Amino acid sequence: MFMRWRAALTDAVLAYLSLLYPPPGSYHDPVSASSVVFAGDSAGATLSLALLQVLLCKSAQRTIRFHGRSVKLPLPAGVTFLSAGGENTLCLPSWRTNAKYDIFNSDGWSYTRSDFPTCEIWPTNPPRCHVLCDADMLCHPLVSPALAKSWRGSPPMWFAGGQEMLGDSAKAAAEQAARQGVCVRFEEYEQMPHDFPIMTEKWPWAQTEDWWQSKRCMSEWARSCVVMAEGKELENGAIFVRLDQTVESVDVANLTGLSSEQIAEKAREAQKKFKPWYGTNVSPEKAEVQ
Ligand SMILES: *[C@@H]1O[C@H](CO)[C@@H](O)[C@H](O)[C@H]1NC(C)=O
Repeated sequence: MFMRWRAALTDAVLAYLSLLYPPPGSYHDPVSASSVVFAGDSAGATLSLALLQVLLCKSAQRTIRFHGRSVKLPLPAGVTFLSAGGENTLCLPSWRTNAKYDIFNSDGWSYTRSDFPTCEIWPTNPPRCHVLCDADMLCHPLVSPALAKSWRGSPPMWFAGGQEMLGDSAKAAAEQAARQGVCVRFEEYEQMPHDFPIMTEKWPWAQTEDWWQSKRCMSEWARSCVVMAEGKELENGAIFVRLDQTVESVDVANLTGLSSEQIAEKAREAQKKFKPWYGTNVSPEKAEVQ
């Protein structure tokens, strides 16, 4: 059941192609790839990373047919990610160590809990362990792009996030790219949760903040997009933005403190632990009969 995930990725590829090569009747002129910067947030960042993997793969360099034309799939000017989820097995240390600052339940995604409401499409038929795909696809680089072996040839990458549970999964992608010579900027904001720049005053813990982290992060995000689209050089390197507004430099090639082999091994081990989800109070036997 890779289908659900593949559909999102297919949509992303088609959206990009449609920008570059507007099909007949489109409302826009062709957009040059050199003025496109991907901007993905959270699972949208995961999808943007997967889209970049598709564009970096050798077969993407071939000419393809799109609405009756032969076209190429060029790389965008840059890629930017807020609070990226880099891998979907939740195997990296920050998933637990940063739980105190974040909005997720460290037991895992809510839909895997026994009290999660069922509906027509969840659990799936046949039941599976994850909304995205079967367990054996969880380590595929298009599902968990932080496990991709190569980012060589990538345009510049900008990442930002809080000190969040998914932090290591974004760092794993960023450091791997940095080790391979890609220009990578990574900004981590101390004690900030997932997606902090888009949180509103409705979030109780945000009410006392003066929002400087959000303002700083959003303005850096916008500035980086402009820098990339203008073909200028993005600052390389990682920073940790402290609560007192001081900024510490961090080694962008070693953000998790783990090697890519160690990360891949952790993900393989975690993948084995996923069990199909049969829904509230439904025994596996009954679910299989349904
Ligand atoms: C990366 O960091 C970890 C701990 O933070 C350290 O043990 C390891 O030696 C570092 N690796 C490299 C290649 O610098």
